[in-house]
Amino acid sequence: MKSLAVIGSQWGDEGKGKIVDVITRQASWVVRFQGGNNAGHTVVVDGKTIKLNLLPSGVLREGCRVAVGAGVVLDGMALMREIDSVRASGISVTPQRLVVDGRVPLVLPYHREIDRVREEARGGNKIGTTLRGIGPAYEERASRVGLRLCDLRDGEVAQTVLKERLKEVSAYLAGCFGSTVSLSLEEHLEEVARLQESVLPFMGDVSFEISRAISSGERVVFEGAQGCLLDVAFGTVPFVTSSHTSAGGISVGVGVGPRSVDRILGLAKAYTTRVGSGPFPTELLDAQGDELRQRGAEYGTVTGRPRRCGWLDIVALRYAIRVSGIDCLALTKLDVLSGLETIRIATAYRTPDGRELEDLPLWDRQSSLWTPVYRELPGWQEDISGVRSFADLPHQAQQYVEAVASLAGCPVVLVGVGQSRDATLWVPGTPKEFYEFVGTESRC
Ligand code: GDP
Ligand code: IMO
Ligand code: MG
Repeated sequence: MKSLAVIGSQWGDEGKGKIVDVITRQASWVVRFQGGNNAGHTVVVDGKTIKLNLLPSGVLREGCRVAVGAGVVLDGMALMREIDSVRASGISVTPQRLVVDGRVPLVLPYHREIDRVREEARGGNKIGTTLRGIGPAYEERASRVGLRLCDLRDGEVAQTVLKERLKEVSAYLAGCFGSTVSLSLEEHLEEVARLQESVLPFMGDVSFEISRAISSGERVVFEGAQGCLLDVAFGTVPFVTSSHTSAGGISVGVGVGPRSVDRILGLAKAYTTRVGSGPFPTELLDAQGDELRQRGAEYGTVTGRPRRCGWLDIVALRYAIRVSGIDCLALTKLDVLSGLETIRIATAYRTPDGRELEDLPLWDRQSSLWTPVYRELPGWQEDISGVRSFADLPHQAQQYVEAVASLAGCPVVLVGVGQSRDATLWVPGTPKEFYEFVGTESRC
């Protein structure tokens, strides 16, 4: 195994940043393939917390190069702020280490304005976007308009495209929403000039670099953003993001063939969270949900919004496993469940006409009428955050992990019991290829 994808299998925030950091000790490259700075990946190294939005988490591993693939939408100013903050922590970010594909669409202030105005107009039907202009930037790409990073090489092209875009967008916002905000061409041109200076030096061809690395047998990690249930086609539409968050997005988001990904590691929290609106069958709207939020510190990394919390949903997880072809799972934040008398897992949904669904046909507006069918498992009382070997977990915690694997029909290879690198346990029976990829005997 030379290449491994780490993707979310719920509604995001499963701990992708941490797991990517844990498994990249020997990696040559970590590549982002979709999303933008709507993502918030938190990594804790030596007690220091680092929050990443656009930079792949491999940036924290000295020997690792990082890439932003063509499937990402790039807010260049946000990238430069992130680079500054990471550099302030003593991490080197140079054009030798970071390559941004010249094909990435740019996210500019007018995209954020469209996002904001539309969300405001939706009132009670908000998607609850991160207001980072992600949807409008992807829409432009599909419409074949807007600026890509490579366009900045020619200032005249950039000016012509921007003029045309601002004219059209201003007319749209004024005509459809009565917006009076003026989108200043000067401000946009100033931003473009800053990006020419600061971001262009990082521009390269990620498709070429990663294809070459794969053919040379280097270890490559593909770092997903969001999660399968936020996929623009396969998620809980319309309450989703605007990119392909499932594994299918890797090939078109990097520019490598679908066979370039050897294994797909799906991440699931030991429970479920969601930020923003949309269906969430196992959501806990009571004190138990508040307790999970407090114990798990479930507040959005990007927007600070409280995350909605609920039980683990195996129906949704099985769906994600199918849609993304997930080979094995990492179950994160198991420590957060300590101290509960019993723990519930949803194994099916009951429809209003009494049928039980074990497989999701598709998510639609009817989904809000489904109620979960639960299996109850015994909890454990011990604090497990200091446990460093699977065998030392309380019997009930081991049983919980085994139940998840068996109900999901997919092996669990890693279990998270805390934020730090070493709070990650290998599950016995994990194929040797994983240990070899990570470069460890039995621990991270
Ligand atoms: P991502 O978007 O998937 O990278 O996840 P986030 O970083 O947004 O949210 C996950 C949060 O949980 C971060 O603060 C992580 O440091 C933290 N985390 C990850 N794994 C574990 C774990 O096993 N236990 C605990 N307690 N926290 C974890
Ligand atoms: P990471 O990578 C959780 C959600 C937003 C909103 C919907 C659409 O940290 O897991 P957008 O701004 O993308 O148009 O918002 O998607 N969302 C996320 N939720 N984690 C994320 O990323 C998310 N990125 C977007 O809350 O519901
Ligand atoms: Mg996150």
